[in-house]
Amino acid sequence: MNYKSLDTSKTYLITGAAGFIGFYLSKQLLEKGCKVIGIDNINDYYDVNLKYERLEKLKPFENFTFIKGDISDKELIMKTFEENKPNIVVNLAAQAGVRYSIENPDVYIQSNIIGFYNILEACRYNPVEHLVYASSSSVYGSNKKVPFEETDFVDNPVSLYAATKKSNELMAHTYSHLYKIPATGLRFFTVYGPMGRPDMAYFGFTDKYFKGEPVKIFNNGDFANDLYRDFTYVDDIVEGIERLLSNPPSGVNEAGEKAAQHTVFNIGNNNPEKLMTFIWALEKALTNALGREVEFEKVFEPIKPGDVPATYASTEKLQEAVDFKPSTTIEEGLQRFADWYVEYYKVK
Ligand SMILES: NC(=O)c1ccc[n+]([C@@H]2O[C@H](COP(=O)([O-])OP(=O)(O)OC[C@H]3O[C@@H](n4cnc5c(N)ncnc54)[C@H](O)[C@@H]3O)[C@@H](O)[C@H]2O)c1
Repeated sequence: MNYKSLDTSKTYLITGAAGFIGFYLSKQLLEKGCKVIGIDNINDYYDVNLKYERLEKLKPFENFTFIKGDISDKELIMKTFEENKPNIVVNLAAQAGVRYSIENPDVYIQSNIIGFYNILEACRYNPVEHLVYASSSSVYGSNKKVPFEETDFVDNPVSLYAATKKSNELMAHTYSHLYKIPATGLRFFTVYGPMGRPDMAYFGFTDKYFKGEPVKIFNNGDFANDLYRDFTYVDDIVEGIERLLSNPPSGVNEAGEKAAQHTVFNIGNNNPEKLMTFIWALEKALTNALGREVEFEKVFEPIKPGDVPATYASTEKLQEAVDFKPSTTIEEGLQRFADWYVEYYKVK
């Protein structure tokens, strides 16, 4: 295995730095002594207090600069690149969420397509050593063949969110081909953890429980045919990204021919769980955190449009490239989430 470890002498530009994954990645790089420029528009898709709280934890680092701004603002992005000359860029800013894209498509085009295009243009005029960007497991749509491999056909997205992420992969490939921008797309699989996203199911269920409300589970209530999700703990995502940062694609394909310096990797747990197994593990974690029995009141509903039956990552390509495979179990990860939640929201 021949991969380069993190280069702490570089300047890293991280978009979406006040977001869930962006925060943890920024913190990790800052703790290792890297210079980090963070950008985020702090939009109110979910509770902005959580975003400010994350930023508060980054502020004490001298090497951290925060810019409040929108990646769809081309002038700002160009200026940020010109002034800060980042060596490595990690684009995590995006409008996330599958279901929200059905009701609010505009913001997906604005942030995920125009915003990402601006990042590519900025890399074109201000060459970088590596552009790493977030794609998503949702590009696999309703694919039946599991585990999902990077070489699988992914032209059947079932939500606009997935379509924007797949478009990002195509755009990055083109820019890499035309302007020699080394670029890596990361297909993340359902990421969870402390300070996570309140719009995600595990967080929403916990909120509902403490409000004394029933939780709605969109799986038809059919355990035998339950949805499967490859739940990935945020520290594993950060470690995967960190290991890839100094390892841009070589520009030589498997057949030994010259190719665009662009590739994609799955970062998932390679261990899908039934949705109900995950929910029971969450009840158990909250039971441990509170020291009393927790059981959600459950209402089962039909599967929502845009939701996919299963996500399951093959991690072979990632392992081969950087000798890493996520390994945090849902029991460990959910315990850390439950302990944080109980402490942060002071619930009993
Ligand atoms: N969390 C997951 O399970 C998951 C799974 C697959 C892919 N992803 C992708 O990973 C990336 C990070 O996701 P996350 O879970 O940390 O989400 P997040 O919403 O917590 O973080 C995204 C951050 O980007 C910011 N942002 C959004 N649009 C912006 C814009 N136009 N300009 C500047 N900032 C903007 C938001 O304010 C937010 O703080 C996203 O691209 C997301 O699509 C996440």
